[in-house]
Amino acid sequence: MCGITGYVGDSDALPIVSSTLANLEYRGYDSAGVALGNAELEIYKAEGKIGELTLPDSSTARSGIGHTRWSTHGPPTDENAHPHTDCTGEIAVVHNGIIENHAELRAELGAEHTFTSDTDTEVVPHLIEEHWDGEDLLDAVSAVVDRLAGSFAIAVLVEGRNEIVAARQDSPLVIGHGDGETFLASDVPAFVEHSRDVTFLEDGDVARIEPDGVEIYHDGERIERERTAVEWEAEAAEKGGYEHFMLKEIHEQPRALRQALTGRVDALSGDVDLDLGLPEEYLQSLEEIQIVAAGTSYHAGLYAEQLLEELADVRVTTHVASEYDVGGGRDPWQTLVVAITQSGETADTLEALRSAKASGARTLAVTNTVGSTVTREADETVYIHAGPEIGVAATKTFVSQVATATMLAVALGRTRGALSRDEASAVLDSLRGLPGAIQQVLDREAEIEAIAQEYADREAFFFLGRRLGYPVALEGALKLKEISYDHAEGFAAGELKHGPLALVTDDVLVLSVLTQGSNPEATLHNVAEVDTRGAATVGFGEAKGDGSVLDHSFSVPEAGLLEPVVANVYMQLFAYHVARSKGRAIDKPRNLAKSVTVQ
Ligand code: F6R
Repeated sequence: MCGITGYVGDSDALPIVSSTLANLEYRGYDSAGVALGNAELEIYKAEGKIGELTLPDSSTARSGIGHTRWSTHGPPTDENAHPHTDCTGEIAVVHNGIIENHAELRAELGAEHTFTSDTDTEVVPHLIEEHWDGEDLLDAVSAVVDRLAGSFAIAVLVEGRNEIVAARQDSPLVIGHGDGETFLASDVPAFVEHSRDVTFLEDGDVARIEPDGVEIYHDGERIERERTAVEWEAEAAEKGGYEHFMLKEIHEQPRALRQALTGRVDALSGDVDLDLGLPEEYLQSLEEIQIVAAGTSYHAGLYAEQLLEELADVRVTTHVASEYDVGGGRDPWQTLVVAITQSGETADTLEALRSAKASGARTLAVTNTVGSTVTREADETVYIHAGPEIGVAATKTFVSQVATATMLAVALGRTRGALSRDEASAVLDSLRGLPGAIQQVLDREAEIEAIAQEYADREAFFFLGRRLGYPVALEGALKLKEISYDHAEGFAAGELKHGPLALVTDDVLVLSVLTQGSNPEATLHNVAEVDTRGAATVGFGEAKGDGSVLDHSFSVPEAGLLEPVVANVYMQLFAYHVARSKGRAIDKPRNLAKSVTVQ
């Protein structure tokens, strides 16, 4: 996820582009850049936040585009920062999204086009150069857009012209109408202080943006799009109208997942392309995988362990990173150590990775953060592509980690001959259905909010699950305790009778994972045990048996092995609404930080 802004009008473009860009920093903050439209384009770009970018004190430009980056292709460097230009330096482009066929397009452009970055974006200005005849910029951009596969929002500025051409496919873009000036951005908060009269572009739209108005084209035809009046205040707008980043990020999960899957999964053939970079013979002869991670990422690791064992037929152990002391296991040369870390900066996880590496094991990072320390230290990296997560409590990164682990398990299973094409296709079908399944849960937020309000004052909250439901139970409890400060524990449901049952009273709420893949019938027996002791009970999923032991039951849409992570979304919403009803600092819970860089 990156942020784009644009401006054309009567005022100085420089302060407007830089301030609107700063308003979008929550969309990405590893590099920033600006192109100003003058007789010659002025381009300023660098690694770092927009506030760190060296800009001139003034400029005569009346148009400009800007970009704040969250890297997907290529690490955060000055060269990879946007805008990118063509060979002549006359055409500047900013882009949000992933262009899947960039390698093919680069090859096609040939040797006369010199590239200066590792990004997928840079093909776009070069392709525009090929189509640009100095007449109609919208025609040239439309011709290029027809060649792009993947997701993109782009804005194009050409020197000497007081217009921006923008195009959208699967990445948001919104236009703000002003008096003799027009704004463009990925999100309304960028320009909400200048304009509240907006038009949201739709997939397939290409727009010519000029000071006095906008022309929108779709499939080559000029069309009109509705104008909407924005009523949010600036701060709410930054959160997309949600009260907290955490809630916004919970709701972003379907989109984050689509992004994680883009260009990687072919459900028909059962193939997954993660661009792993590990030799096939090594993966085939691999004897053990050790996962190292902390907190929520550790829970994703426990989930991944079961998927890898089942789908790739490989022995897997998952380690709390700070407890890892097995240095690559019995035979480090046949062991792959996988570090799961959304930030890529967790000191405990990095330390575990280093000790595995020192013993001779190969290492793989699964992370959300391009250019983070883990990507520099691990032998290979797979990105989860969830976009930046601002709320301290991890939500969309958890589900994206599990989705990425599923792809990894299928890819390994195919390489190791453990998974037939049909079996792989079935898992990938569930994966492709995951965004829709999660959306169905999100649509029931009001019901889960009512449950959260009813039980918010219970003395303790216990989460039960078996098999794939166990890591989800741990995650449900972690989310609740960190943002509501309540006593919450996750248990393997079968362990209840070995001790924790002593804690169960009629002032406790017990929440259970009862989905496919989590042995729901057995867990329902444990629910009966707590019901007998007076606890209130909530179940997610359906189990055969005596449903009367559940006070509340929420169905979970069919998602095969991924059903427990769908149930997890109910738990995220539950935690959020309990914490909200108590007025907690949800996005910045006490004593916690987003990146834990100390051991
Ligand atoms: C919980 C949470 C933490 C992190 C943990 C590891 O909501 O966010 O438990 O999961 O600190 O962080 P990463 O994944 O960045 O290594």
